[in-house]
Amino acid sequence: MTNTATAVAPANIAFIKYWGVQDAERTLPFNGSISMNLDTCLTTTTVSFDSALETDEVTIALYNQVPERAAGQPLARVVAQLERLRALAGVPTRARVASANNFPSDAGIASSAAAFAALTVAGAAALGLDLDERRLSLMTRRSGSGSACRSIPTGYVEWRVPDGPFDAAAWDEQSYAVSLAPPDHWDLADVVAVVDAGAKKIGSAENHRLAATSAYFPARLAELPARLGATRGAIARRDLELLGATIEADAVSMHVVCMTSRPPSFYWTSGTLEIIHAVRAWRDAGLQSYFTIDAGPNVHVICAAADRAEVARRLGALPGVRFTIVNRAGPGARVIPG
Ligand code: DP6
Repeated sequence: MTNTATAVAPANIAFIKYWGVQDAERTLPFNGSISMNLDTCLTTTTVSFDSALETDEVTIALYNQVPERAAGQPLARVVAQLERLRALAGVPTRARVASANNFPSDAGIASSAAAFAALTVAGAAALGLDLDERRLSLMTRRSGSGSACRSIPTGYVEWRVPDGPFDAAAWDEQSYAVSLAPPDHWDLADVVAVVDAGAKKIGSAENHRLAATSAYFPARLAELPARLGATRGAIARRDLELLGATIEADAVSMHVVCMTSRPPSFYWTSGTLEIIHAVRAWRDAGLQSYFTIDAGPNVHVICAAADRAEVARRLGALPGVRFTIVNRAGPGARVIPG
């Protein structure tokens, strides 16, 4: 017997960052986070459960490259997620997984978010599991790539944590992502400026564990309820000035935690700082654009969609920028015809 499904899922850019893990086993964060799905950076994944298979077979096609068989840690993470889905369905059947990214993996866009959202949606559909959005998001979060749970709902998305003291078992059932607004609620763009393909990759998994070693981490957590509230309000009212000031403060705060963790991580390069200064100068001169930076050197510049071509042109003219990728707000993960 063969049961097949294909899903497509977007990458997302965090306005308020997930940084720091309270329970790595269940991927439970310290704080809620808010993001926008990207409409052009997508992963497409086909999962076929086939009773003739003795092991899971996974191929990954990176942007502009031929598909390659996954091995080691990437394979282990996919198999672990298939195991979670099989346990839910109560079936032992192995699967063939073929995943393809349509954006460069060195672009500073978390490809694992799109990948684990697409894997979970395709895998659940192939097994005939009837999971609602909440359960799909929960299952995706458990993959270990926490931010992937925000790629399930549409548009502008919040990954919630329950109120009250940390309770791993309760949070495991209650920490998932919900849509705050559909993409057409607010026509924003994320112009990604890729500055440095050669920068050494620093994995965020280990750094999520190190966050709590920073003396500034408690200060960051204390600031977050107000920042999350401001971001929700800015999205509801389409207030770009408030959104921009809030996301810049949050990105800086996350990176201060990185730079003061033990051992510290420095993700920014000279190209990163060049863009931060340029964006601030453009803003002073009337072009409303704001920076945010994930766990890498590249910069995401958030602006009104109407300004995206001008922002991309200016970013492309900076000496440190290799290329740009332009995104607008997009829908969440969905099953598509195979
Ligand atoms: C800085 O553990 O979800 O992007 O390392 O790609 O699996 P991967 O991502 P994850 O950490 C995301 C960290 C972040 C902020 C964010 O997206 O919220």
